[in-house]
Amino acid sequence: MRPYFSERFGNASSIHHHGQETRAAVERARESVAALIACKPSEVVLTSGGTEADNLAVFGVVQKGDHVISSTVEHHAVLNSCRHLQSIGCDVTYVPVNGRGLIDPDDVRRALRPNTKLITIMTANNETGVLQPVEGIGKIAAEADIYFHTDAAQATGKVPVDVKRIGCNMLSLSGHKMHGPQGIGALFVRKGARVQPMLWGGSHERSRRAGTENVPGIVGLGRASELAKIALERDQPARMAEMRDQLENRILADVKGTRVNGQGAPRVPNTSNILFDGIEGEALVIALDLKGLAVSTGAACSSGAIEPSHVLTAMGLAPDCARASIRFSLGKQNTNEDVELAVSLIDQTVARLRELSPVYNKEAISR
Ligand SMILES: Cc1ncc(COP(=O)(O)O)c(C=O)c1O
Repeated sequence: MRPYFSERFGNASSIHHHGQETRAAVERARESVAALIACKPSEVVLTSGGTEADNLAVFGVVQKGDHVISSTVEHHAVLNSCRHLQSIGCDVTYVPVNGRGLIDPDDVRRALRPNTKLITIMTANNETGVLQPVEGIGKIAAEADIYFHTDAAQATGKVPVDVKRIGCNMLSLSGHKMHGPQGIGALFVRKGARVQPMLWGGSHERSRRAGTENVPGIVGLGRASELAKIALERDQPARMAEMRDQLENRILADVKGTRVNGQGAPRVPNTSNILFDGIEGEALVIALDLKGLAVSTGAACSSGAIEPSHVLTAMGLAPDCARASIRFSLGKQNTNEDVELAVSLIDQTVARLRELSPVYNKEAISR
């Protein structure tokens, strides 16, 4: 990326040689993104990230009076887009998930209406890593001749993603979810799909997304896509899944009162969401951070109060259990030693927090 911040700074829309140099870099990156998801380069619209890609998919297709099918566990980039659609006169059906976090494609079929315009259901969940049956949903959409968008920000680069196999018309991805830079992403738009731009201006991105390209970001996304493709071909995700299993098995064995949210469902290899009975998730995140271990909760802080994760509550967890759940994410640089260190930090920290808790029922958990 570095040369594109300085000596190669031409505007990719300019016809002089500086511009042509950056144009070539942008098109090479587009080819790499296309190769990762098995589409044509011309079907890749480069965006400022997953959020913009999701918004473009939703608002580029749906109009007032249309019906949309989504799910209760989407990322806020889709969920809040759908809520906005409701405020402007669209109907949205949010299909539920079961206790493992999975959607039943038959629920999607049953939700279809004559005015259904779009199905938007994620490929992998950002809090639990659960992989949805998107190929089944793609078939339903194709039979009904309805647009199908899938937010694959958490799946791309972690599991094989093939837009034809999924059968989607649109697919979102994000650079920083696959070791690429932040603030860059893409929307796959199948040839022939009619998507209105959200940004009006020049004719960049074949008039689908106006604005001078973020060349360093795009170059970074392209390189991240190439590296992710190589990693997938070398089966690196399987090694990561082993590490994730090691993390889960060791926590379940060493720390009483723990459970994996989404266990038993197909999941991406790097994400694990674990419930620690009697723990306040935010307190655990802060305590672990002080020891150098960065983890997160799915909770959102709205108007000063901590709201439990909408994903976990949709899976049937009580608000207290959702608040007691932590998300762990592994990266490709992690080692088995990191996992062992993490487990011992978690074990000590959970024990200390439980000791301090006035409400924690120690006997119930030790049984
Ligand atoms: C599933 C999912 N969709 C969309 C996004 C938004 O992507 P970005 O951060 O690139 O806007 C994220 C990022 O957290 C995500 O996990």
